[in-house]
Amino acid sequence: MRKKLKSKSNFIPVNTPKIFGNEKAYVNKCLSTGWVSSEGPYVKKFESLFAKYNNRKFGISVSNGTAALEISIKALNLKKGDEVIIPAFTIFSSILCLLKQGIKPVLVDSDSNNWNMDINEIIKKINKNTKAIIITHIYGFPVNMKKVLKIAKNKKIKIIEDAAEMIGQNYNGKKCGSFGEISTFSFYANKHITTGEGGMILTNDKKYYEKCKSLRNLCFGTSGNRFNHDDIGWNYRFTNIQAALGLGQLENINWIVKRKREIGARYHNRLKNNKNIIIQDIKKTYAKNIFWVFGILLKNRKFKRDAVVKKLLNNNIQTRNFFYPMHKQKILKKKKIFSKNMKLPVAEYLSKNGFYLPSGLGISNTEIDFVSKKVNEIIN
Ligand SMILES: Cc1ncc(COP(=O)(O)O)c(C=O)c1O
Repeated sequence: MRKKLKSKSNFIPVNTPKIFGNEKAYVNKCLSTGWVSSEGPYVKKFESLFAKYNNRKFGISVSNGTAALEISIKALNLKKGDEVIIPAFTIFSSILCLLKQGIKPVLVDSDSNNWNMDINEIIKKINKNTKAIIITHIYGFPVNMKKVLKIAKNKKIKIIEDAAEMIGQNYNGKKCGSFGEISTFSFYANKHITTGEGGMILTNDKKYYEKCKSLRNLCFGTSGNRFNHDDIGWNYRFTNIQAALGLGQLENINWIVKRKREIGARYHNRLKNNKNIIIQDIKKTYAKNIFWVFGILLKNRKFKRDAVVKKLLNNNIQTRNFFYPMHKQKILKKKKIFSKNMKLPVAEYLSKNGFYLPSGLGISNTEIDFVSKKVNEIIN
């Protein structure tokens, strides 16, 4: 995969997955037995093992993390105009699931200490129309969500925990993805566990489980006629082949989490003395950084992000810019979703000055050392 991305053989892609366990054997079994669609036996097995790993009762596999969010929002049965709080600094999927269903997104700024949603801003934005909060963990640390979970419980505000980037992470000793009514995950190639494309919804609530399962599968009729459908759903099914890959990956989750932290710590040690950048801590009181990606935030205005990433690319190092905030998205401006003067300074600073380094499981220590050396040379 690495060489195909660019012809230069020493090119370091922003992500390379690592597939090294029983994945091939399980996928081959799908092919030799003919169980290739969503009906195959690996699907249920993967759902139940993934739920168990995250201390949840039920798992519903879906075609990707975006679909997981879309289904989860629909399962909450919100009304048009209800408000849902999301971060401004996140993937576009966080807002799509709301806009497509007529739900009003309410944005919160980021916390400069951890690049996640600012807890105090969440609390300020809660009002009588707030029906849910999507708690989205970004890049490495979980949202420090204790206070918010408590308020949400008191006010009967639903929580969807988007743990796409946090597979294997803990918050105060409990698995990320085990909080709130529903949690969602992605298994895209840059996630800790990959199934190529894929996603998962977890819940402890049988009612949400049944609803999400139905929404994933066209809401086929349950009162006699299968083709007389119960609701407006999607075909967001997950295949046996994807589940086969996922099972192989899940068997190595402890190694994966350990290696993610090693990659992060190695970069951290090599970059921590660079005064021109901000990097994330290794640990907070509530969590150890899992370093889904290793982010760099330019501190010194002398350095411009686009020029820096271009220089890194000239050294065969691929990077990815940080997310672009929701209130600045051109399509959302055109649709007048947010007020023109909205200012969310931390999210804006992150998106303008941040990028991340190659951080996938396939990276070697030699490559990390080379990337760090170049970062220190270029941002100096
Ligand atoms: C926090 C978060 N949520 C959701 C998604 C969407 O997942 P997918 O790409 O599988 O649709 C992503 C993707 O990177 C993400 O980072």
